[in-house]
Amino acid sequence: MSPAQSDALVVFGVTGDLAHKMILPSLYQMVRRGHLTTPVIGVALDDWTIDQLADRARDAIVRKFGTIEEDVFSRLKALLRYVSGDYQSADTFERLRTELGQARQPLYYLAIPPSLFGTVIKALDAAGIAKGGRLMVEKPFGHDFASAKALNDVLHTVFEEAAVFRIDHFLGKEAVQNLIYFRFANAFLEPVWNRTYVESVQITMAEDFGIAGRGKFYDEVGCIRDVIQNHLLNVLLLLAMEPPVSSGAEDMSDEKVQILKAIPPIAKADLIRGQFDGYHDEPGVAPGSKVETFAAIRLFVDTWRWKDVPFYIRAGKELPVRATEVVVRFRRPPLMLFDEIGPADSNYLRFRVGPQVTIGIGARRKAAGGDMVGEDVELDAVDDTSDDMMPYERLIGDAMAGRRQLFTRQDASELAWQIFDPVLDQPGQPAPYKPGTWGPVEAMADFAPAGGWVDPKA
Ligand code: BG6
Repeated sequence: MSPAQSDALVVFGVTGDLAHKMILPSLYQMVRRGHLTTPVIGVALDDWTIDQLADRARDAIVRKFGTIEEDVFSRLKALLRYVSGDYQSADTFERLRTELGQARQPLYYLAIPPSLFGTVIKALDAAGIAKGGRLMVEKPFGHDFASAKALNDVLHTVFEEAAVFRIDHFLGKEAVQNLIYFRFANAFLEPVWNRTYVESVQITMAEDFGIAGRGKFYDEVGCIRDVIQNHLLNVLLLLAMEPPVSSGAEDMSDEKVQILKAIPPIAKADLIRGQFDGYHDEPGVAPGSKVETFAAIRLFVDTWRWKDVPFYIRAGKELPVRATEVVVRFRRPPLMLFDEIGPADSNYLRFRVGPQVTIGIGARRKAAGGDMVGEDVELDAVDDTSDDMMPYERLIGDAMAGRRQLFTRQDASELAWQIFDPVLDQPGQPAPYKPGTWGPVEAMADFAPAGGWVDPKA
C-alpha cells in the first residue's frame, strides 16, 4: 500500500533565509508542475501579514528564476497561509491548528535552528496536531555524535522514525540520483567495481566563493561539518554501497549503514585542514578563528569489496571553480604492450555532480599515425543540463508523498558522526591558502591519490 499523501505543508521558519533561497522557489515549481495543491502554512515569529509573505515569495521566485508566471504565482498565493507567533506560546499552535482545519496528515518542515526542534515538536504534540503528521528536518543534524543522538531522542519523543525525514539536499540532486542509477542499471560496472580494479576514489567539491555573509553560521561549523560529513559522505555511500535487494527505502538504508559501519573513525594523519586568507575579516567570524574553510580527508571502507582502496574527499571555499566531481581511478593494465602509460592517464570514470551532470569515461586509444602511441580521450556518457527540478522541490515532494529513499535514517545520521568525531574542532591553526587556489598546496604535497588530484574544470 503506498503511503498517504500529506494534506498540508507547514513551514516553520518561513520568513528565514533558507525559505527565501530554496523553499519558496521550490513550492512555486511544484505548483507550476501541478504537484502542490494543498495549503501551505508558514509559521514564524515575524509579525507579517499574508500579503507580506506573498511579496516575499514573489521576490524569492524572481531572484531565483529571473521571471515569474503570474498564473502560477496566483495559484501558489491562494495556497499560502501565515501564522505569526512565538514557538514558546501555546497560542501559536492553537492558531496553527485552526489553519490546518481538516488536514490529518500534514508535513511539518522545520527550517529553523535545531535548538528549537524540541520546543516545536512538544508544542505540536500538546496542541494535538502531531499525530498522523510527518516531520522534515534540516541540516545541520547535530554537531557531533552525541548531539545527533540527543536530537534523534527529541524527535522520537513524539514522532516515530517512519514519520521523520532528515534532509540532505545533495541526495535530491539529479546528478547524485544519476550516480546510483548508473551504478545499478548497468551490469558492466559490477565486475570492475572493487579493490581488484579500482585504485582510488576521489571526491572534490570546489566552490569559487567564500562564506557569502554566513560568517556566524560557518564559523561554528567549518568545512567538515558543513559539507563533508553529510553531502560528500552521502556521495561516497552511493559509490561504495553493495547493491540493495530492492530500491525500497529500508533496503537502501540498510546497505548504506553497512558501509558506514565499515569506515573506521578518521585518523588525524588522514586530514589536512586549510583556511583561506582573509577569512578572519569576514563579518561574524571570531578573531583568530581556527575553523577550516578547506579540508581533505582520506578514509577507508573495510569491506571485502573496498579493503585498502583509499577514498579521498576534498572540499573548500574560495577555490578556483565551482564544481563537484567524483573520479574513480582504475589500476593500470598489468603490462605496457605499446607505450608507457602514466599513473594519471586515462582509466577512470568521472562523475560530475554539479553544476552540470556529466558521466565521463577516461580511456586510452591509439593516436593516429605510424607508431603504436596512445592518447587519452574522455567519452562523455551523459551530459544533461536540462533538468530544472531543484533538490528541495524533489525532497519536499517526496516527503509529502511519504517516499523515504532520499532521506537519512536515524542509524545513518548517527554513524556518520562517529566517523568524523575524532577530527572535529582541531586545536591547531589550519594551513593558509590564497583565494582562487586549490587550497593549502604545500600542506597537501604528500596528500593525494596515486596519480594526483584531478582538479575539476569550470
Ligand atoms: C550547503 C552548505 O549545505 O551546501 C553551503 O551549507 C554550500 O556551504 C552548499 O555552499 C552547496 O550546495 P549546492 O547545491 O550549491 O552545491
